[in-house]
Amino acid sequence: MNGRMSMPPANPRLFSPLPLRGITLPNRIGVAPMCQYSCVDGLATAWHMVHLGSRAVGGAGLVLLEAAAVTADGRISPGDLGIWNEAQARALAPIAGFIAEQGAVPGIQLAHAGRKGSTSRPWEGKAGIPPGRGGWPVMAPSALPFADGYPLPREMSETDIAGVVDAFADAARRAVAIGMRVVELHMGHGYLMHQFLSPLANLRRDAYGGDFEGRIRAPLRVAAAVRESLPPELPLFVRLSATDWLDGGWDLAQSICLSQRLKAVGVDLVDCSSGSIQPGSQGSGEPGFQVPLASAIRRDAGIATAAVGGITDARQAEDILERGDADLILLARALLRDPYWPLRAAAELEAAAAGWPVQYQRAVTRMRG
Ligand SMILES: Cc1cc2nc3c(=O)[nH]c(=O)nc-3n(C[C@H](O)[C@H](O)[C@H](O)COP(=O)(O)O)c2cc1C
Repeated sequence: MNGRMSMPPANPRLFSPLPLRGITLPNRIGVAPMCQYSCVDGLATAWHMVHLGSRAVGGAGLVLLEAAAVTADGRISPGDLGIWNEAQARALAPIAGFIAEQGAVPGIQLAHAGRKGSTSRPWEGKAGIPPGRGGWPVMAPSALPFADGYPLPREMSETDIAGVVDAFADAARRAVAIGMRVVELHMGHGYLMHQFLSPLANLRRDAYGGDFEGRIRAPLRVAAAVRESLPPELPLFVRLSATDWLDGGWDLAQSICLSQRLKAVGVDLVDCSSGSIQPGSQGSGEPGFQVPLASAIRRDAGIATAAVGGITDARQAEDILERGDADLILLARALLRDPYWPLRAAAELEAAAAGWPVQYQRAVTRMRG
């Protein structure tokens, strides 16, 4: 059973619906993808249902599941979520169903870690795990490790690249079959697709490296293949690290050009993050520090954007939308601290649309006994 207490119409932009292709997000607040490192063999558990379900109950319009590895060797850690087989997809079906029952839209981020794979969970101390001690061989555009203590990747062949393209497309098909309604491709944070984009990680001299056209070739092939595998009514997002924050690295100008190309192959929204191609390349982390990236991409590439990073306050989120800097607000840590952030934001902005679940009615209306 589910439902929302009915209320008069809302007007803050944060609580206005966002139509994307054939679906509509009920508001502009999304749960940013957040790895929980809590799977065995890539299978979601009760933790995922409770964690994600709580955020759907809390009123987020979009619940994006954490980075789900499209191949076993594409995991960051042994605890990562996977979607490279049918059993993993089946484990996600009830979660997608529950999120949708709460009136939110379920989505999933698809990822491949490349050279940042085969590492321990963050709370176990981030370090490479050698094959033989639970780790696995990793691959990347070039044979350059992320940092000392990380695995040395093997340089990918064209066959490896074709395999990754197919793995993303297959994973997207599985995700849609079990009820996911938004697919996001992880092309940021120093993971495999970002490793192709950034001249700091991609030293190839073949068709998949060198100039801008070469470095975007593999990510564009992935986006095009995933688009083809999705029904036309479902939106496709791409998360970019819109800048490496480093001289000689990937930058905003290239992100704008790439976003235009992604739009041309049917990507609907660019989720604008930054950094992490190398240790310490993370930007200031100040409130809203990545919003100017979302704003520039939205304006100059003519594509919808999501703003993320250091957004904690309802008024701040509303201002980002009112200024036209982004179409969607994604929250990570604020929603870990408070799954009911959207319902509190609705009260603060005097929005009416996001009602509390009917089951919780007695907590928000005056009542006896
Ligand atoms: C626990 C945790 C796990 C995360 N896992 C992912 C992930 O799976 N994929 C991703 O793109 N970003 C991931 N991120 C980054 C967030 O999606 C977000 O971009 C970042 O935390 C900044 O937003 P915030 O200031 O609202 O926390 C993670 C962040 C946290 C806190």
